[in-house]
Parts: sequence; C-alpha cells; structure tokens
Amino acid sequence: MKTLAVISRKGGAGKTTLSINLALASHLAGWRTMLADIDPQRSASDSLRARTAPGPTLAEINAGKLFQTRAHAEHDAYDVMLIDTPAAPDSDVAVAANHADLCLLVCRPTFLDIASVARSAEMIRRLGKTGLIVLSQAPPKRGGLEPVGVQKAIEALRFCGLPVAPVGLRARAIYQQSVAHGRSVGEWDPTNPAGQEIARLWTHVAALLALDGQGRDVRAV
Ligand SMILES: Nc1ncnc2c1ncn2[C@@H]1O[C@H](COP(=O)(O)OP(=O)(O)O)[C@@H](O)[C@H]1O
Ligand SMILES: [Mg+2]
Repeated sequence: MKTLAVISRKGGAGKTTLSINLALASHLAGWRTMLADIDPQRSASDSLRARTAPGPTLAEINAGKLFQTRAHAEHDAYDVMLIDTPAAPDSDVAVAANHADLCLLVCRPTFLDIASVARSAEMIRRLGKTGLIVLSQAPPKRGGLEPVGVQKAIEALRFCGLPVAPVGLRARAIYQQSVAHGRSVGEWDPTNPAGQEIARLWTHVAALLALDGQGRDVRAV
C-alpha cells in the first residue's frame, strides 16, 4: 500500500480539495483507496458523506489512530491511503508525514503560503521523507501565459529544495461545487479543464508512488 499525506500549515490552502480529488482519481482508476481524515474539522468526511456513488473508504480518526488504521488498511489489501491533515498542531502533521511514502505540500502562490511551505519542507527533510509541492488556487493562464505572480511563486519555491509538481490546481469555482457533492471535478463536468489538471497530477503522483499500470478493477469515470 502507498500512503500520501496532504499537508499545509495554512488553513484554506486547499488540502481537503486536493485530498478528495486525488482520492477519487485513485478510486476511479480502480485502486482500492482509503481517505483518512485526521482533521477535527472533518471537511473531507463531510464531502465524502455527500457522495451517492461508490467511492473511497472514509476513516474519520485522530492522528493517534493513524498507525492502527494504516495497519488495518494494509491488512485489508488497500492499494492507496490518503491522509487529509489539519493545519495544526505540528505534531499531528508530523505523524501524518511520518506515515507517508510521499508528502504533498499544498501552496497558494502567495508570500505567506510560500514562507509556510519552506518550514514544512524543512520538517520533511528532517524526517527523511519525500515531498512534492502542489500549487493550489493559482489564477488560470491568460492567453496561454502564466500570470506573473504564479511565475514568481514557482521561482521562490525552488529555494525550498523540493520539486514543484508540473501541474497544479487553478482557482476554479468547479472545485468548490464538486466537493460539496463528494464528486471529483472530472465527474462533475468532464469538459472543465480542472478534470485534466487532476488527471495529469494523479498520473504524476502515481508514477512517483510507483503505482504502475492500471488499478485492479477499472471502473468508468
Ligand atoms: N483550486 C481551487 N479553486 C477554487 N476554490 C478552491 C480551490 N481549492 C480550494 N478552494 C476553496 O478554498 C477553501 C479552502 O479549501 P480547503 O480545501 O478546505 O482547504 P484546507 O483543507 O487546506 O483548509 C474552500 O472553500 C474551497 O472550496
Ligand atoms: Mg481541510
């Protein structure tokens, strides 16, 4: 089983939105997927409970239960576990990172988010973990051009010493609409470019996790 921790010390960065969409991408690709919600706000749980179609298994737990939950998931032959984390306390974030094969650091293209990601990157290095920065809520390209603020953010993030994912999540209303129904952006509107963002990001993440080939029970999206 491969474990992904979705992390950012900033509230509202987009952790839950990313967790839900990647958990659904994994599920819809046919991987047996569990989403562990260790945030007491329970936003990921609220979203998945609104889902009417089959989906990832939800584990509403606290950080202290992560070890046991992961062991059970491994025993029950899950392929992928995603952990949606709270912004604080640091100790809970560190527990999630410690369990992860890959930590996704969610970052909006703003000065304060970048400063916060630099500190999270330092923690991940200290723990000897693998990290990937995922830009979130970036303004969409205009006329094919990356907005200057996004370009600058990507340059600044180079100094964190962790790679930046080749595709991030743009600021799009569809992320807010689909999460309210426990649906992925691709399920909600297959014509919206957000679906492509998530599909490309999932392909990149799955390759880093060495989840090769197709899931075992491929379902139609
Ligand atoms: N890519 C995006 N585009 C538009 N709105 C977004 C996006 N990502 C998150 N949001 C919105 O921002 C708010 C915070 O997102 P959320 O995923 O709950 O962040 P976190 O879990 O880090 O606190 C929510 O209202 C969510 O719908
Ligand atoms: Mg959240």
